[in-house]
Amino acid sequence: MSYNNLLLQINDKTALITINRPDKLNALNHTTLVELKNVFEELKNNDEVYSVIITGSGEKAFVAGADIAELNKLNMIEGKKFAEFGQSVFNMIENFDKPVIAAVNGFALGGGCELALSCHFRIASENAKFGQPEVNLGIIPGYGGTQRLARLVGSGRAMEMILTGDMIDASEALKIGLVNKVFPLAELQSKVFEIAQKINSKGQQAIRLSVKAVKAVDKMNLNEGLDFEAVLFGLCCGTEDFKEGTSAFLEKRKPAFKNK
Ligand code: COA
Repeated sequence: MSYNNLLLQINDKTALITINRPDKLNALNHTTLVELKNVFEELKNNDEVYSVIITGSGEKAFVAGADIAELNKLNMIEGKKFAEFGQSVFNMIENFDKPVIAAVNGFALGGGCELALSCHFRIASENAKFGQPEVNLGIIPGYGGTQRLARLVGSGRAMEMILTGDMIDASEALKIGLVNKVFPLAELQSKVFEIAQKINSKGQQAIRLSVKAVKAVDKMNLNEGLDFEAVLFGLCCGTEDFKEGTSAFLEKRKPAFKNK
């Protein structure tokens, strides 16, 4: 499939999606959201892809938010639909069965911060800035920010970011757990690629079931989550990779996973 506002490169089982509207700081207009949905459909069905990285084009922005020129025209009903559509795309990313990593290379504001939050984890460059500045526009975050930010960093930190609209820098984001690691901008892509390669080298059945199990934390209470974990653990024990991984350990050799 071809895309107008996204670049898609696949190398060594890792798909790199670059949001590509640099003159608008990669703001998410409707076309870009539709393309994001389509690219995840495409990658879901591509057995050659084990993990996905999302980044922004240029050296300034990951994504500077939803497109304010489109926002400006919405009435009440359209506003609700606008939020629901963005949420559906970000839900698809959050529920994607292969790992999705945000490589945040600059401004991640509004919908950009929410896009990063829908990824399974986030790595940032030193120049990255995070914020939910929607109140400056007379709106609230609508692509999941009120829910996912509070779940990730706690309601107090989320409240402060959402109510003040202030940006935080990469070191503050690291401190509050919004990102896992910070690298110089020039190294960001290669460092995130290294992490993806490490993930790709494992048995992919176990990787995908790990994603499913950890994401259940937002959907289940502890007892339900533990039951779910035990079921997924049992499923792993039925895979060839489980036999290979445990046998390789006992035979003191490297496992040769077949992802079966
Ligand atoms: N929607 C639409 N266009 C956007 C945008 C957005 N969210 N963010 C930036 N742009 C556009 C600007 O309008 C400008 O376009 P132009 O050159 O045609 O005028 C271009 O991107 C560059 O942005 P600019 O504001 O000139 O860059 P800057 O370095 O001075 O400021 C920001 C950078 C990120 C601080 C500023 O662009 C900003 O505040 N953006 C909006 C952030 C926001 O509120 N996001 C939440 C939306 S829900």
